[in-house]
Amino acid sequence: MSKIIVPKGTYDLLPDDTAKWRDLETKIHQIFSEYGYGEIRTPLFEHTELFQRGIGETTDIVEKEMFTFADRANRSLTLRPEGTASVVRAYLEHNLAGSGGVTKLYYYGPMFRCEAPQAGRFRQFSQYGAEVLGSLDPRVDAEVIALAVNFYRRLGITDLDVRLNSIGCPNCRPVYRSKLIERLRPKTGGLCSNCQRRLERNPLRLLDCKNPSCQDATADIPLITETLCAECGSHFEKLRILLDSIPINYHLDSRLVRGFDYYTKTVFEVLAGDLGAQNALCGGGRYDNLVEECGGNPTPGIGFAAGVERLLIVLESRKTSVFHPETPELYIAPLGEAAQLAVFPLLIKLREAGWKVESDFLGRSLKAQLKTADKMGVSLVGILGEDELQGRQILMRRMATSQQEMIPLDYDCIINFLKTEK
Ligand code: HAM
Repeated sequence: MSKIIVPKGTYDLLPDDTAKWRDLETKIHQIFSEYGYGEIRTPLFEHTELFQRGIGETTDIVEKEMFTFADRANRSLTLRPEGTASVVRAYLEHNLAGSGGVTKLYYYGPMFRCEAPQAGRFRQFSQYGAEVLGSLDPRVDAEVIALAVNFYRRLGITDLDVRLNSIGCPNCRPVYRSKLIERLRPKTGGLCSNCQRRLERNPLRLLDCKNPSCQDATADIPLITETLCAECGSHFEKLRILLDSIPINYHLDSRLVRGFDYYTKTVFEVLAGDLGAQNALCGGGRYDNLVEECGGNPTPGIGFAAGVERLLIVLESRKTSVFHPETPELYIAPLGEAAQLAVFPLLIKLREAGWKVESDFLGRSLKAQLKTADKMGVSLVGILGEDELQGRQILMRRMATSQQEMIPLDYDCIINFLKTEK
């Protein structure tokens, strides 16, 4: 019979990987708590309409990348392709705005996009992300960008490319949009088929098309930042002063528009050189109209999301040692059946007391057991042969020095020994 393998674009995390993931997850929860965010967990699937309305009908995600299915009552549901729309839905559904003020939420978990898989791009991937609702202040934009960047810095990734742009608001963006359409319409024939389709509906997306002929066509396009209204212009200027004060180095990228219709004003991305084509570690921006578009009172918002797989690719490629290996603190090597029986209750008792202890379950030779312990990186091995058992003793071997010490085969004595060796 043929073997069944994982679906395209998904993967298994094996024990060595999950140890790293868990370590990273702890660090993620820690930084969000330090910055004053509360964790929100939303369902893995939502009504399709939420993403159609929230992300935008003409975006790549909604047009071609969603995993959409009908439930048994023929309702259209979609596996969440991102977290922002769900967070806004939950914010409204549970009235998290309460009596006003700023609501700071973060999330962590799997997202699903039916994209062509490649290095750093999966169909099920994990994001951690932040959403801040209720403030128009550019200090919030700067705080969100600082959090995103500082997390990488903590992990030792400091050579980051932070790209920043402002894409205006419903007051000023239509002016730019019309200018773009006007300038690009005569060049329609030279655009890729995707951009030809998008020109009238979503012309800003043409700016970040990687197709060389589209890049040529948009080469001399005026900058969006030159057509910002007074409010968007001043917001952007204040944000730049705040980022300089942290300091966070960034560069202005007038082609950065991002693939979601909800953005207004600030958009940003953090890139890492080692990632190849899929080089964005994280991305985000302001969405001052999304809450209203989802049926709430006008409420500004800003957030970002970051890919966990891509972060791990960067950490692995740099051999950054931020992870603590899960090495047992003691390996007990029983020799013979009587020793195995004596070791077993000890093993369980030590584990129940919180010690990380391993043993052999294959009845192997001492040499083989020492080899296994060495491979695990264990520094202490307790050897229990027939002689030791008869004398109610256990031989403790320090693997680094091969130094050995006989101690009583007694639970409290072993604990005391482990404590002094720690
Ligand atoms: P996004 O740029 O689509 O933004 O995704 C954020 C990050 O998720 C990317 O920079 C990348 O690291 C990771 N990512 C995206 N797609 C994939 C994939 N197929 N495979 C692996 N990693 C991927 C958002 O999702 C917005 N919701 C961010 C946001 C929050 N804006 C405001 N608030």
